[in-house]
Parts: sequence; structure tokens; C-alpha cells
Amino acid sequence: MKILIVYKSIHHGNTEKIARTMADVINADILSTRDATPQIIGRYDLIGFGSGIYFGKHHHKLLSLAEDLPEVKGKKAFIFSTSGLRELPIIHNFNKELKKRLLEKKYQLIGIFSCRGFDTYGLLKLIGGIQKERPNDEDLSNAIAFAENLIE
Ligand SMILES: Cc1cc2nc3c(=O)[nH]c(=O)nc-3n(C[C@H](O)[C@H](O)[C@H](O)COP(=O)(O)O)c2cc1C
Repeated sequence: MKILIVYKSIHHGNTEKIARTMADVINADILSTRDATPQIIGRYDLIGFGSGIYFGKHHHKLLSLAEDLPEVKGKKAFIFSTSGLRELPIIHNFNKELKKRLLEKKYQLIGIFSCRGFDTYGLLKLIGGIQKERPNDEDLSNAIAFAENLIE
């Protein structure tokens, strides 16, 4: 099975850390959204799509890439993210937009991973940020377990 991980990580490289950790364990190729095209993505059987959460959703470049994908048959996907805040079910739905686009393109969604990431956006900078040192070793272990589970 050919696996690709596509990511966008603009704030502190938090999501890139998760993307690289996962790619190592499942022997996936890895590309940032800058280099990933629908044509390249089309060569893989399982694709992971991830970014930080910005204003309540995945990065707009990742969302528009998902929008540009053709409808597929028999391809699998997983979603991942890092965010300053934990998702609170009634208030947030961080995965909604990306999930919607991938399901519209008929990807079979086989997993969703998220963890906290160091966040110094806006006024948070004044207090030195939140979620310092995240993702930490435990987050990376969780990402490894999640990735291993995907290919079992
Ligand atoms: C412009 C901007 C907007 C953000 N919006 C949110 C948000 O809506 N919810 C949240 O929990 N975190 C938010 N964050 C924090 C990021 O999701 C968090 O720091 C994430 O780990 C960044 O990942 P990256 O380093 O891979 O870019 C925001 C950060 C930035 C810079």
C-alpha cells in the first residue's frame, strides 16, 4: 500500500512534527501542501491530510487542495491536526470542513488524530503562549500508535 502524508504547518512546526513522526513509522512519503498536487495524490492508496487549526478549521490551503481532488474509488484517508485548544464538541468542530470535502470526494475516512500544539497567536504571545513544549513525547507516542493502527 502506497501512503502519502500531506501537511501544512505555519505557526511553530507543531503539525510537521506529528506528520514526520507518523510518516517514519508507516513508511509514508510526505509533502507539504506547496508541493502536493491532485495528480501526485492520485498515485497513493492511503493519504493523511493534516495541519494546525486556524480560526476553527484546517489551513485553507489544505482545504482547497482537498476541494480540487477528483472523486476517487477505493482510496482511504485520515485526518490529523494540532491546536491550541482541545475541541469542545458543542462549541467546535475542527474537522468538519476537511472531513466534508474528503467524503464528498468518496475517500473512506479511517481515522482522525489530534493533539495540542504550542500556541502564541495574538494576545497569547503576551503570556508566553499556551501548550508549551507540545507536541510532547506523549503526543508523539500517541501519533505513532495511531499511525501503526492505520496499517494493521
Ligand atoms: C492564525 C492562527 C489562528 C489559530 N486559531 C486557532 C483556533 O481557532 N483554535 C485553536 O485551538 N488553536 C488555534 N491556533 C493555534 C494553532 O492551532 C496551534 O498553535 C497549532 O499547533 C499550530 O500548528 P503549526 O505549528 O503546525 O502551524 C491558531 C494559531 C494561529 C497562528
